[in-house]
Amino acid sequence: MENLSFYVNGQACIISLPQGNNTLDFLRKNLGLFGTKEGCREGECGACTVIVARISSSMDIHFRAMASCLMPLGQLQGCHVITIEGLDLGYANPLQQAFIDRGASQCGFCTPGFILSLTAYFLSGQILSLQGALNSVDGNICRCTGYNSIHRAIKDTLESCGLLGRKADIKYLVEQKLLPSYFLKMKELLLHTFNKTSSIPSTKGIILAGGTDLYIQRGDELPQEDLNLIIPESEEISLSHDGLILPASLTMEQLRLNPQLNKQYPGLEEALLVVASPILRNRATLGGNMVNASPIADTAVLLLSWDAKIRLSPKNSSAKDFRQIPLKDFFLDYKKLDLKPHEWVHSFFIPPPTQFWNFKKISKRERLDIASCNSAISFNRKNGLITQLSITFGGVAPIPLLAKKTMAYMEGKSLSWQLILLACEILKEEIAPIDDSRGSGEYKGLLAQAILKNHFLDLFPDELDSKFLSVPGDETKDNLVQGG
Ligand SMILES: Cc1cc2nc3c(=O)[nH]c(=O)nc-3n(C[C@H](O)[C@H](O)[C@H](O)COP(=O)(O)OP(=O)(O)OC[C@H]3O[C@@H](n4cnc5c(N)ncnc54)[C@H](O)[C@@H]3O)c2cc1C
Ligand code: FES
Ligand code: FES
Repeated sequence: MENLSFYVNGQACIISLPQGNNTLDFLRKNLGLFGTKEGCREGECGACTVIVARISSSMDIHFRAMASCLMPLGQLQGCHVITIEGLDLGYANPLQQAFIDRGASQCGFCTPGFILSLTAYFLSGQILSLQGALNSVDGNICRCTGYNSIHRAIKDTLESCGLLGRKADIKYLVEQKLLPSYFLKMKELLLHTFNKTSSIPSTKGIILAGGTDLYIQRGDELPQEDLNLIIPESEEISLSHDGLILPASLTMEQLRLNPQLNKQYPGLEEALLVVASPILRNRATLGGNMVNASPIADTAVLLLSWDAKIRLSPKNSSAKDFRQIPLKDFFLDYKKLDLKPHEWVHSFFIPPPTQFWNFKKISKRERLDIASCNSAISFNRKNGLITQLSITFGGVAPIPLLAKKTMAYMEGKSLSWQLILLACEILKEEIAPIDDSRGSGEYKGLLAQAILKNHFLDLFPDELDSKFLSVPGDETKDNLVQGG
């Protein structure tokens, strides 16, 4: 049992419950907040979306929409949780009214999730746009209303509340009646009780960060377990003299939106929209993505292409005391890692970027889906020759793969279609995709070759004429998710 203190919808909540208890169950069963719906319990539907407000490392307040079904109660210490009941003004607010007016809510099961994802977007501090608002509901599924009605309701609200093209602060959103006025005092209340927690795990217990893998794998057991909680987004990216340090607690959404990384890797923000969904990306951490060791882990493929080093620290010990190895050496075999029982993933070192970069992910559905095949590439071009080339693939081997033979073949050569087509032949020999629910091994083999060609076609469309693409099954160019 753990003594926990946080706020729910502006009211203080002090409880003594296991850290691993599921937040969705707590809201519904202990607090009777039935507006938070239970759909899939796997992060897929968004019916359980809540907003979590937390004091950030820069002492600001941030608001994030999250799936409460994959969230341990213990991570709410010092936070403010907002459910649909917490937006209640005694009448429908302009966003809720727009949903009513546009027929965007029929059975209503999904509607609280949509309203909370959108409200979190309004509170995000980003310059607001229609596309941004639509992206913010990528993780919210509606089974009975047409999405066009929802689209129209969102557009109406952005326009009628003057939100387009502006960063909205709490005061403005309260004035627009999109938030109740108690939001104005919440930052002060949270600062009053703010206590920066250590993110160094102890030697006992299971490490739990975003919980987006652990709750799927063993959600029922977690309330009974000793947990070492790592708070997602509790730390920021920092500069080292020769590169960037990405903390293991960095969320996929922090990675996607970081200005420094977007400068180094243009197009990153757009490219990572195909990873999970906002309510998951606000929880899923880089550390969890590596240690889950899926052969199609998106950020593993990405960080491998950036030639990242992984920093492994002994548990219960100073963060400076780490073992640094190339990320490519961390993945030994299927779900087998070079991670000792006494170690945890502390951070990642990212060296300076190369000139060119590209990321692609192909899945059955464009958003919120696991990849059939994903890939990233990075390299320089000096005097027309390819140098410092990195090519990575997910879904074609037991581990996220650095395609060393293909890289060695292309390194130091001049870029041409002939070179790319011959490189595809080497890639074909180097990978060993298997049949699974995301496609046959043969299909994934062809996909990998098509992706390799499309990396270069994306980067040098004028130089490489698409008519030279001639590998069978390569009509996928238009379907490929663009990145970089
Ligand atoms: C609906 C849904 C969609 C998804 N979509 C994608 C997707 O598009 N792409 C993708 O790559 N993944 C996806 N995932 C998988 C998952 O979100 C990611 O793997 C995520 O990065 C896991 O991070 P986490 O912080 O949630 O890990 P957790 O569940 O907290 O932990 C996962 C494992 O890592 C360990 N761990 C966590 N942090 C550390 C650390 N710092 N040191 C040592 N061990 C640690 C835990 O003990 C556990 O064994 C999806 C998952 C769901 C449920
Ligand atoms: S219940 Fe479906 S995402 Fe949580
Ligand atoms: S209104 Fe019924 S699921 Fe969306």
